[in-house]
Amino acid sequence: PDHRPLYGRHVLVTAGPTHEPIDPVRYIANRSSGKQGFAIAAAAAEAGARVTLVAGPVALDTPHGVDRIDVESAREMASAVDGALPADVAIMVAAVADWRTRDVAGQKMKKARTGLPDLALTENPDILAGLAAGKARPGLLIGFAAETEDVVANARAKRERKGADWIVANDVSGDRGESVMGGDHNRAHIVTAQGVETLERMAKTDLARTLVARIASHLETVETE
Ligand code: C5P
Repeated sequence: PDHRPLYGRHVLVTAGPTHEPIDPVRYIANRSSGKQGFAIAAAAAEAGARVTLVAGPVALDTPHGVDRIDVESAREMASAVDGALPADVAIMVAAVADWRTRDVAGQKMKKARTGLPDLALTENPDILAGLAAGKARPGLLIGFAAETEDVVANARAKRERKGADWIVANDVSGDRGESVMGGDHNRAHIVTAQGVETLERMAKTDLARTLVARIASHLETVETE
């Protein structure tokens, strides 16, 4: 038998940015390398899980043993997530664009003689909040939060507001030499209903393994209670 801690589990991960098209050559996006989400997908697969990774546009190789679905926009990401359910655990690491353009131009927009283009925006679906409220809610639903101040307080509020079980709060205040965004290290707090675990600054791959270990022991605990 396979004794790996997440054997038999389905873990769903979102990662990377989304691109919201303006016209065929332009888009709106958030800054995200996808490294943290890909590292989590890799760590979950190493722990024996079946992993579905819904990835926005990033230049990263697919981790070994991971099923990857590539998407561009938030709405494509939302429907890929929907299609991947049910999942035992969902970890929403993607930096989803909050807005998209209401109308996408079919042709490249010309530099206007008449003034600036009017980019009317509309709100994107919140994938995490949608999962929390949906009927196939994963048993353990984890969101990420990038904060520059009041990191833990904001993460606590976000946990409640979005209906997530845990929020992993990144401190992206960007002092100490290396930037979190695009970099290989992270400083994080795991905020749950029970409290907060503050982790050392560590490599994103180590944060991924630490988080997967917390997930495995949580699943074991709730099932032996
Ligand atoms: O509200 P904020 O964007 O800071 O929340 C971050 C968390 O919510 C992340 O887990 C992110 O993946 C998720 N999210 C989402 N869909 C959105 C916006 C954020 O799943 N439209």
